[in-house]
Amino acid sequence: MSLPIRSFLFIPGDSEKKLGKVDGVAADAFIFDLEDAVAVARKPIAREMVPAFIKERPKGTRKSQFWVRVNPLDTPWTLEDLAAIVPAAPDGIMLPKVNGPEDVAQVSYYLSALEAASGIGRGAIKILPVATETAVSPFHLGDYATAKLERLYGLTWGAEDLSSAIGASGNTNVSGEWTHTYKMVRSLCLLGAHAAGGEAVDTLYVDFRDPDGLRASCKAARAEGFSGRVAIHPAQVDIINESFSPSPEEVDFARRVVDLFAANPDAGTLGLDGKMLDIPHLKQAQRTLAMHEARHG
Ligand code: COA
Ligand code: MG
Repeated sequence: MSLPIRSFLFIPGDSEKKLGKVDGVAADAFIFDLEDAVAVARKPIAREMVPAFIKERPKGTRKSQFWVRVNPLDTPWTLEDLAAIVPAAPDGIMLPKVNGPEDVAQVSYYLSALEAASGIGRGAIKILPVATETAVSPFHLGDYATAKLERLYGLTWGAEDLSSAIGASGNTNVSGEWTHTYKMVRSLCLLGAHAAGGEAVDTLYVDFRDPDGLRASCKAARAEGFSGRVAIHPAQVDIINESFSPSPEEVDFARRVVDLFAANPDAGTLGLDGKMLDIPHLKQAQRTLAMHEARHG
């Protein structure tokens, strides 16, 4: 079973100090940023530093996946970014501000050419689009399902750039919850990712000094069908990893469900602890156990 990436930690691609933290942080993936965390004047430096850093830890020697967020297609830098980083063989590219699957297809063609030029297996580099950052993008979230994008890892979403794109002065209400538009695009992202057979990755939790809020928010996201989340600070990583893993209670319960169905091979529906179970519950339990066993043997 290929395991979903639980935590994607962003690191500004021009920060030697933050890049230096990689070996001590247990993120499932790092995203070295060439986009908005890097000032325009520093982009050429980041474009050199990131591939050099990745090359020092080639595939097979690294504990975590290495992804790179490139600049979006409406800037002059996307091709330069891709040409610089593909030879270092990152595991994936995060593509911000996409309008829809055509943008992902375009970057996929670029990657195919650059992979060939670098002697990297075609399709080795995955793509995770940030699929809700432009005003038109939410209208295409269902189109990934039929777009046949073999590199697509899944979909993630972002609120800040969408607010800016639509001239909104905010995206949360007085209680700090997403307002309607952002709840809607988040749900469409979740559904679109699964419709495309990929993973749904939740957006960042901006308050990096609020571990309890982060944990509650991640648990809720996992219960809804997200399999991982973006992190912005190392302190968020362990909480995200734990929250997107089955808890010991869930694993125990899943084992009991699987055992009960195994003991009653002709039953389509059974009772356990006073609750009805049927085939979707069995499938869910099998998924939970498979995920647990893949990480813990
Ligand atoms: N990756 C690696 N190391 C990080 C880090 C990150 N994303 N964020 C913080 N650190 C390091 C700091 O350098 C600091 O190291 P030190 O103890 O050796 O001084 C340590 O963790 C503690 O950091 P802290 O002081 O709590 O935070 P900060 O004020 O230095 O940084 C941010 C706060 C938000 C600027 C920083 O977390 C960050 O750069 N996050 C990523 C931003 C990003 O890439 N955004 C793009 C996507 S939205
Ligand atoms: Mg952004």
